[in-house]
Amino acid sequence: MKILGIETSCDETAAAVIENGTKIISNVVASSASLQAKFGGVIPERAAREQIKSMIPVLEEALSKTKKEEISAIAVTVGPGLIGSLLVGIETARVLSYLWEKPIIPVNHLVGHIYANFLNNKKNPEFPILALVVSGGHTDLVLMKNHGDITWIGGTRDDAAGEAFDKCARLLGLSYPGGPAISAEAEKFQISNAKLQMFPRPMVNEVNYDWSFSGLKTAVKRYLETEKNIDTPLVSANIQEAIVDSLVIKTVRAISEFRSKSFLLAGGVAANQRLKEKFSEEISKIQNVEFFVPEPSLCTDNAACIASEAYFNNKKEDFQKINANPELTITSEI
Ligand code: KG4
Ligand code: ZN
Repeated sequence: MKILGIETSCDETAAAVIENGTKIISNVVASSASLQAKFGGVIPERAAREQIKSMIPVLEEALSKTKKEEISAIAVTVGPGLIGSLLVGIETARVLSYLWEKPIIPVNHLVGHIYANFLNNKKNPEFPILALVVSGGHTDLVLMKNHGDITWIGGTRDDAAGEAFDKCARLLGLSYPGGPAISAEAEKFQISNAKLQMFPRPMVNEVNYDWSFSGLKTAVKRYLETEKNIDTPLVSANIQEAIVDSLVIKTVRAISEFRSKSFLLAGGVAANQRLKEKFSEEISKIQNVEFFVPEPSLCTDNAACIASEAYFNNKKEDFQKINANPELTITSEI
């Protein structure tokens, strides 16, 4: 069964064809990130205008290896995200659904991120699954007892992990998106056994699975205002380590408490090498849990994971009943 996925929730325009939820037939992503970088972040109207231009070429490329008769359904992100951006994908899916007489499957973007871990794998993750979604706008830890059975365990009380990377990068004068920029600077820092304790890890000793990242941005700002000679690689390595430590310490505790068989890392920040290394290291100390993380191109926004989610959850809808919902949470019913 082949599903066409469409994703336009933020600044990417993406389309993909996925077979049986796991095999990538095509996966095309056009990003306006370099354009957004000029303005230091995503400007919603500009993002939507770029998506209108990119949508048809991206679709044509994604569909070039498949006959449209072979497509069983159209999966589309309905939220959360920017309203103008979401509508570009939703209206495209609606038209295709009408013309091809195929159902639409609405997908929650945050849940979609998790399903990047079902793509191109030798083996699918086993339930119960604990999943950490770390993206530009969200940080959510969830327990999945089955497909569609998701319980929220914890999340950020203020800034998302990706947002912390982006805001700190901006303070350092680095480019947008901040995560890859900080990580590249941090790699230039050579002392591998340094403690990297310049910035705090708030809430790590609290008995809950919540995070707070807004204090990090304030601490970095204060440091930059008071220091005369800024060593960007050193500061970047410290920012990265503070975010990584906070995420790993609390998540590893949850993996033990909920006895999950699989731990799935997802979202743009999951592309971070240091985060993956630290999770691998800590999870290897726990028995009977397997660690999954998508390849970097499947961590950031894409339509392949959206089509995969649609296959496993398969909530077909009439095209007239699909609506954009910018405020969806990871456990919202759609
Ligand atoms: O999931 P995503 O592509 O879009 C949203 O749904 O938000 O995530 C984007 C976020 C940005 O904040 C970006 O800085 C971060 O993911 N990111 C990274 C890395 N690559 C992307 N953060 C840390 N290290 C990376 N290598
Ligand atoms: Zn995303």
